[in-house]
Amino acid sequence: MNGVAVHSALVCTETHNAICNIHNEATGKDLLISALNLYTSLTHQQVIMRMRLKLKTVFVLYFMVSLLGLIYALMQLGQRCDCRDHAKSKDQQISQLRGELQKLQEHIKTSQLSKKTDVPRIYVITPTYARLVQKAELTRLSHTFLHVPQLHWIVVEDAPQPTPLVTDFLAASGLTYTHLYKLTPKDRKLQEGDPSWLKPRGAEQRNEGLHWLREMGAAAKGKEAAALEEAVVYFADDDNTYSLQLFEEMRYTYRVSVWPVGLVGGMKFERPVVEDGKVVRFHTGWRPNRPFPIDMAGFAVSLRLILTNPQARFDGDAQMGFLESSFLQHLVTMDDLEPKADLCTKVLVWHTRTEKPKMKREDALQKQGLGSDPDVEV
Ligand code: UGA
Ligand code: MN
Repeated sequence: MNGVAVHSALVCTETHNAICNIHNEATGKDLLISALNLYTSLTHQQVIMRMRLKLKTVFVLYFMVSLLGLIYALMQLGQRCDCRDHAKSKDQQISQLRGELQKLQEHIKTSQLSKKTDVPRIYVITPTYARLVQKAELTRLSHTFLHVPQLHWIVVEDAPQPTPLVTDFLAASGLTYTHLYKLTPKDRKLQEGDPSWLKPRGAEQRNEGLHWLREMGAAAKGKEAAALEEAVVYFADDDNTYSLQLFEEMRYTYRVSVWPVGLVGGMKFERPVVEDGKVVRFHTGWRPNRPFPIDMAGFAVSLRLILTNPQARFDGDAQMGFLESSFLQHLVTMDDLEPKADLCTKVLVWHTRTEKPKMKREDALQKQGLGSDPDVEV
């Protein structure tokens, strides 16, 4: 009891003086009941206060946790998180990193190479003629060449004069180029419906490119003449597919370098066969006894050799499959050929051919005056 009274009194003095004063005037029993009531009511208030206190603590804790969460989220912002990585095993992660490292190393190598200016120049001669896919072909080709350091593109149009399409295309290409034209005479040109093998294609244009090189070579002096001594010439048709590595293989050519060509002559590939570092014969499905049974895409010639052999040119009247031989036999023998692409074991160029687009619907719409706008260049 005493303890209760003392406790009540203590609570009184601390909190509810007014109520205590009223109860101090009452009798013993009343006082006891009042004290008990007061004790109960005070305990209730204490409970409420404690609960408030707890709520406050919970709120503070909640606030702190939210704040920490926010800080953590802010710290994670901008950091790469590939969540799939967590599921992968360590080995997979290591091999993935190795792959990324290799890609980066190759990227550095290529970007360093494209800045190189002290490597032999490559002159690429490309015959081209107007058709629906011409701009698409030239776009693809130019994008390959843009990756090749020290490349000079000689584009020779099979046309009576330079066309606006090729002129504008080259001006915007970002490449070092020379724009020429030479119309194939009618009697040497394939006519609509002729099989593609009936007459050689691009012969007059390649000869025009060679003529330009010889004129340039004759006029060159000093440093420029010395640079030409090291240069190499390649005949790149506008429809084939060329790897970047191919250009590095041909860059150092003393006379004539050779390598395999994929998807040509009805074969998976054709190639020179190399024994003891020398070309001894050719792997081809058709007339292997031709002087040089090799596709135009399969060789490059040193500019020096072209300049010192002015009679070397392509014969526009050559029999089917003899166009390459008509030129090469003026320059080398089989014994002189320099095998590239890991002794001719790698295919780095493909003799791809683009399908002629079908214009059935275009023709039908044109008859109704609803054809595609002719002012839009395709
Ligand atoms: C194959 C060879 O890969 C060619 O190098 C070779 O010139 C040709 O055979 C041939 O025997 O004459 P193919 O795919 O049949 O090539 O020939 P195309 O790609 O149609 O023509 C070769 C090059 O000549 C191309 O760059 C093409 O644009 C050009 N060309 C073609 C012309 O300049 N005018 C034409 O009328 C046709
Ligand atoms: Mn072709």
